[in-house]
Amino acid sequence: MKIAVVGTGYVGLVTGTCFAETGNTVTCIDIDQEKVKKLKNGKITIYEPGLEQLFERNIKQDRLFFTTSLAEGIQDAKVIFLALPTPPGEDGSADLKYILKVADDLGPLLSEYTVIVDKSTVPVGTADKVRERISKGAKVDFDVVSNPEFLREGVAVEDFMKPERVVIGTTSTRAHKIMETLYAPFVRQGNPLVFMDERSAELTKYAANSFLATKITFMNEIANLCELLGADVDAVRKGMGTDSRIGKRFLFPGIGYGGSCFPKDVQALAKSAKDTAYDFKILKAVMDVNTYQKTKLIPKIKEFFGGNLKGKTIAMWGLAFKPHTDDIREAPSLYNIEALLQEGVNIRAHDPEGMENVRRIVGDKIQYFNNPYEAAEGADAVFIATEWPEFRTPDFEKLNSILKSKVIFDGRNVYELDVMKEQGYTYFSIGREAVN
Ligand code: UGA
Repeated sequence: MKIAVVGTGYVGLVTGTCFAETGNTVTCIDIDQEKVKKLKNGKITIYEPGLEQLFERNIKQDRLFFTTSLAEGIQDAKVIFLALPTPPGEDGSADLKYILKVADDLGPLLSEYTVIVDKSTVPVGTADKVRERISKGAKVDFDVVSNPEFLREGVAVEDFMKPERVVIGTTSTRAHKIMETLYAPFVRQGNPLVFMDERSAELTKYAANSFLATKITFMNEIANLCELLGADVDAVRKGMGTDSRIGKRFLFPGIGYGGSCFPKDVQALAKSAKDTAYDFKILKAVMDVNTYQKTKLIPKIKEFFGGNLKGKTIAMWGLAFKPHTDDIREAPSLYNIEALLQEGVNIRAHDPEGMENVRRIVGDKIQYFNNPYEAAEGADAVFIATEWPEFRTPDFEKLNSILKSKVIFDGRNVYELDVMKEQGYTYFSIGREAVN
């Protein structure tokens, strides 16, 4: 099948590359000329495990193309995916300007029946708006389908190639058939293609992300309570998670959820509810708790150092919003950097992938190091903001010899308490007893 993907961000590039991988001919379109130039030259623009190999292979096989021209890119395309940004506007609602602009431009360019698919996370009713905009200029039949993306950064390729489910919102039998054919290779093991109407599909995405953010937040509050009641959140988590109705995943407490999705989607769903005069109370609590959670270790750090952090040096291990990505959008690390800088702390940071992105925002207000040990050199404490695997079993002998004092503030519960006791650390984590 001939496919076009408008937008070459995380979702667009993964979508385009993975559809090419199953034999479709895919053209990705982006207005960013620099980006398209790079992609055309076979240089990948995002870090996503496993993507580069597929990207290179499909370019070589003449199945994956890039262009800045919408007219050229959609020529002969049976399906056009819209994978465009929906940044939060000032009031928290998703800004649809990019999607609607493309919808306006698409109408007059369509030359035969085409399926236009919203892949971005968009508020309920967007498919209707897109349909309306396209129909203003279109002279041929078309359908607008909502097909929200559930991929996680870091495992996006795997999530796309072997999805647990694919949600497809369309009431058109013609579009239904085409989408079924397109996705059939991805669900050969029997995972479902869940068909529904457009509005339900749009809401499903927000409901899923908001539910997961709520699940994490609930655990963060349990962890906060554990600290006050002298319980251990690790034990509570395991005890709860083995109930299959609750499930083991997404129960890990920490310094809050970040990323380009959860914060934006919770906010947007809360705003959608408000617009319909529905008071979605849980979502407000989720946002409040997450704001608190992100910097909850700061008062502990301050207290530990006797109320004054001026001139202290802290090694920050991890900057990305989660491991296996260079993405730092809404990363808890950024909030902690800001709070620590305000207290006059010197920050020596290391992250395997995220340093360049942080440098773009924070500049040389902090120092960057290529490995965790260089960052820890002479530090008064280590602060763990992201649970990269490489931090899990460090060379403690080496670390012990370079730290000024053996203190760790762990926002991601990376270490067992026994190990910290054995190694003689002062150790603060989330929802567990402090080791002194
Ligand atoms: C999330 C969803 O998991 C995807 O299904 C969805 O498609 C995507 O948003 C999206 O809307 O595009 P992602 O933001 O890549 O994916 O990352 P997650 O792995 O879900 O992690 C989100 C945040 O939650 C991270 O900051 C992570 O550290 C935090 N988290 C996750 C916890 O604090 N505890 C947990 O137990 C799990």
